[in-house]
Amino acid sequence: MQIIKNIDELREFKNTYKSKKLGFVPTMGALHLGHLSLIRNAIDNNDIVIVSIFVNPIQFGANEDFDRYPRTHQKDIELCKNAGVSAIFMPEIDILYPNGLDDEVELLAPKSMANVFEGEIREGHFSGVLRVVLKLFNLISPTNAYFGKKDAQQLLIIKKMVRDLFLDINIIPCEIVRDENNLALSSRNIYLDSTTYKMALNLPNAINKAKSLAFNHTLESKIIENEAMAMLSGLEVDYCNVVDYNLQKIQTIKKQDSLLLIAVRVGKVRLIDNCWF
Ligand code: PAJ
Repeated sequence: MQIIKNIDELREFKNTYKSKKLGFVPTMGALHLGHLSLIRNAIDNNDIVIVSIFVNPIQFGANEDFDRYPRTHQKDIELCKNAGVSAIFMPEIDILYPNGLDDEVELLAPKSMANVFEGEIREGHFSGVLRVVLKLFNLISPTNAYFGKKDAQQLLIIKKMVRDLFLDINIIPCEIVRDENNLALSSRNIYLDSTTYKMALNLPNAINKAKSLAFNHTLESKIIENEAMAMLSGLEVDYCNVVDYNLQKIQTIKKQDSLLLIAVRVGKVRLIDNCWF
């Protein structure tokens, strides 16, 4: 497995594998089994797989955890190597942002999808995600790029960018990986102690409740939202809404393109989860 740190090395690597099917998994590192399931999916369906590890400063707000975001590079490298990844791209900030963070062409995520839910609480977050993902797409030119359904809003906004900018890349959505108690895996779960972890389990319980209601033909959003909210007692709920793939609130679930989005705070930790109907 090659570890690539700059753009010349990346171009050289790509030239070696010009006509091969290339799978790409963008991450911020601190890899866990959720990331690994994306990586396995990529390995099973491509000739070559590149994983990027880059904690992208422009998608963090001023009061967010950029500085203390977990960085576990040695462990990440081992995990990728054992999984059969072809190359890791792990650039320093000045490689991806050689002109600094603020004096560049920017990308604006569409307001209707990016200023709601996560975007309402994390201003500018999705524009920062799009800018780095587009840079990575342009540098790597993957055939297939893999994203988790865990970050539903991110996935839907990236799919929109690919459609709107006519990018020739397949976006492959991957299922949410959960721990033994059903909590969706996240690099931020390490901030939970045993008390807050127990409280956080109300989140997957709410998701399961919503799933079973929809499975049993309850299609009215209000009922699903209220029943999910009832399971979230003890948690501070930022939002709990049924939406369509344009992230617009809807009154009735349609089985093809509806999902329930939830974000909660447990102490200082913010967690998101969702359920695709
Ligand atoms: P990061 O949080 O590291 O996540 C990388 C990818 O792993 C994302 O597509 C995310 O949805 C997926 N993922 C995380 N937890 C998962 C889980 N429990 N089950 C399935 N997939 C999971 O998302 C980012 O990084 C960044 O915003 C990035 C796209 C790399 C741009 O900086």
